[in-house]
Amino acid sequence: MEKMWAGRFEKASDKLADDFNSSIHFDSKMYKHDIRGSMEHAAMLCRAGIISAEELGSITAGLASILNDISSGELQLDMNAEDIHMFVEAELTRRIGDAGKKLHTARSRNDQVALDLRLYMRDEALSVVELLKKLVRAILEVAKANTETIMPGYTHLQRAQPITFAHHLLAYCMMFLRDVSRVLDAVLRMNYSPLGSCALAGTTYPTDRDSVALALGFDGITMNSIDGVSDRDFCVELEAAFSVIMMHLSRFSEEIILWSSWEFKFVELDDAYTTGSSIMPQKKNPDMAELVRGKCGRVYGDLMATLTMLKGLPLAYNKDMQEDKEAVFDSVETVKKCLEIFIPMIETMKPLPENMYAAAKRGFINATDLADYLTKRGVPFRSAYKTVGTVIGKCVKENKTLDEIPLDEYKQFSEVFDADLYEEISLETCIKKRISRGSTGYDSVKEQIAYVEAEL
Ligand code: ARG
Repeated sequence: MEKMWAGRFEKASDKLADDFNSSIHFDSKMYKHDIRGSMEHAAMLCRAGIISAEELGSITAGLASILNDISSGELQLDMNAEDIHMFVEAELTRRIGDAGKKLHTARSRNDQVALDLRLYMRDEALSVVELLKKLVRAILEVAKANTETIMPGYTHLQRAQPITFAHHLLAYCMMFLRDVSRVLDAVLRMNYSPLGSCALAGTTYPTDRDSVALALGFDGITMNSIDGVSDRDFCVELEAAFSVIMMHLSRFSEEIILWSSWEFKFVELDDAYTTGSSIMPQKKNPDMAELVRGKCGRVYGDLMATLTMLKGLPLAYNKDMQEDKEAVFDSVETVKKCLEIFIPMIETMKPLPENMYAAAKRGFINATDLADYLTKRGVPFRSAYKTVGTVIGKCVKENKTLDEIPLDEYKQFSEVFDADLYEEISLETCIKKRISRGSTGYDSVKEQIAYVEAEL
C-alpha cells in the first residue's frame, strides 16, 4: 500500500521499519473513539463552512459503515496500516472517494491520537469506577452480616486487640471509596479536548474547537495547542490511581490468602474461585487472590513505563509517545479483570466466625483492656501496664488465658483487681467499650456502615 506521505520520499520504507513503526495491532482498540472523534470533527468542518453538507453526509455515512463493519468483524483491520487513524481514513476514502480526503483538514494525527486516548481513558476510567462501587457494595454486605463477629486485630501480624470482622472489612470499603474519588478526580482534570491543536501550532482554518469539545462530552478545550498534543499527564494520573487500587487489592488478597490457610481458617473461599493441585489431593488454593496480588506488579510497571517514556521528552509530539498505549491498555485491562474476579470472590467467600473467635480468645488481645481496668481505678498507666505484663508472664508459663487466672491470684499482683475484671476483659466488652468514633465499637461500626452506604 502506498504511504499517505509517499510524495516526499524517493524510496519505500523498509518492511522491518514499517512493522516496527506500526501501532495498529494495539491502537485498534480505540477504533470507536477514533471514529466518534472524526464524526464530530467533520460536523464542525461543515458548520465552519470548510466542507459542504453533502461531503459531511457521505463522511458520516462512510464512518458509520466502517464502525459497523469493524464491530461486526466484516471489515478486517489491515495490519500493514501504520495505525488505526490511518486505517480508518484510508478505508473511508476507499469507500466514499474524494470527500474522505477532506476529513483530515484542520487536524493532525497528533491531536487526533491525543483525543482518542482521552475518550478511551474516560470510558475505561468510568467503568473502573462502576466496578469499584460494586466491590465496595460486596464488601459492605459481608460487613453488615458480621457486625457481631469478633476476630483478633493485628499489628506486626501479632494479635493485638479484638475487633469485629465488620470493622476490618470496612477499612477496605474506605480505601476503595478513596480510589473512586481518585479516579474521578483524574477524569475531571483530563476532560478537556485537545482536538484542534493540530500538529502543534493550531490551524489557519476558522475551526470551532469548543463546539466539538461540547459534542464529545468534554468540559472544555485544552488552552495551549503545544500542551494539547504533548500532554499525557492523564495517563500517568490514571495509571497511578490504578496502581493504588491494585495496591489495595493486593493487601486484601494477602489477607484472604492468609485467612484461608489452615493456620488461620477465618474464611473459606468458594470452590468456584479456588483451584486444586495436580499432585496434592487435599489442596484448595486461593489462586485468584494470589494472581491479583501478583498482577499488582505489572500495573506499577505500566505506570513506571509511561513516566519513564515521558521523562525528558522535548515538546511537542514525539514518536516515543506511541509507547503510551500498550502501558495504559494493560493497566486498564488488568485492573478491570482483577476487580471483576474480586467481586464474586468476596460475595461467595464464607466467613468462619467460630475460628475467628477462637483465635481472638488466645494471644492476650484483651491485655490493654486489663491495664485500662487498673488505670480507671486509679493506678497510673505505666504501673498498670507493668502489672498486666507480669500477669501475662504467668499465663504464658501456665498456658492460660487472662480469664483463666482466679481472682485470689490476681489479688497477689494488685489489690485493685476485683471480681468485675472478668466481665471487663471479655471480648464483647472490649468491643463495646470502644466508644471513639471510627473505632471497632458497635455504634461506631454502625456509623461507618451508614457512611459507606451514603457514599455509594
Ligand atoms: N500512532 C501514533 C501514536 O500512537 C499516532 C500519532 C502519530 N503522529 C505522527 N506525527 N507520526 O502516537
